[in-house]
Amino acid sequence: MILVTLQDVYKDYIMAKTRVPVLKGVNLQLAAGEMACLMGPSGSGKTTVLNIIGGIDFADRGRVSVYNQDLQAMGDKQLSAFRNKTLGFIFQYFNLIPVLTAFENIEYPLVLQRVGKKERRRRVEAMLEAVGLSAVKNHRPDELSGGQRQRVAIGRALITRPKLVIADEPTGNLDHRTGKAIMELMKEMNEKEKTTFIFATHDPMVSSYTRRVLHLLDGAIVKEEKA
Ligand SMILES: Nc1ncnc2c1ncn2[C@@H]1O[C@H](COP(=O)(O)OP(=O)(O)OP(=O)(O)O)[C@@H](O)[C@H]1O
Ligand SMILES: [Mg+2]
Repeated sequence: MILVTLQDVYKDYIMAKTRVPVLKGVNLQLAAGEMACLMGPSGSGKTTVLNIIGGIDFADRGRVSVYNQDLQAMGDKQLSAFRNKTLGFIFQYFNLIPVLTAFENIEYPLVLQRVGKKERRRRVEAMLEAVGLSAVKNHRPDELSGGQRQRVAIGRALITRPKLVIADEPTGNLDHRTGKAIMELMKEMNEKEKTTFIFATHDPMVSSYTRRVLHLLDGAIVKEEKA
């Protein structure tokens, strides 16, 4: 089953009144249960592609379908409900809520899903353990290191057991050992729950976990490797 389709996706950004083409005809399909990753130089469009798949940004032209839903045609409310139910997004710059603790940041998507308090606590404690943050669960983001913040963002994305996880530089701030532990956690979710993953990364350790590597250059996929 195909989970994600991008077909001839074009995207420009307007910078100082000039149109800058960022995506120039991206085609990609992702099957349910796959792990794939986007690689390519800084500025090649990796984050833009992920944001379009996640319904955070929109294509100017082309077709974007996720779970057989046309994201471009959805209203705001419908889109955020869809995101909350189906997607886990790990942002390149984390986007944590500054006034909430690590525990509360991870808990938040479950509150939106109206999961009961006892069940929330059980799941959040287990996730804190899995991402190695139990000792700092009551710290706010500004009281955490970069790598700890990244792990909060990962916990928050995985806590709802989403069907599709979109992860932008998931190991960017982690030391090799912690990065590997996080990738093992995602691999386990992939194997046990058939969760689909798409990553953007510069880190060869991340791509070593994915069977497919899509190389992006200057807004187009120029090469695909399959293991
Ligand atoms: N909101 C925006 N407004 C204007 N230009 C943007 C915007 N977002 C991205 N761009 C431009 O689009 C291009 C692609 O950016 P993108 O963030 O997708 O690259 P990337 O491959 O994720 O890079 P990195 O590896 O540095 O994260 C860049 O040239 C960037 O300057
Ligand atoms: Mg990026």
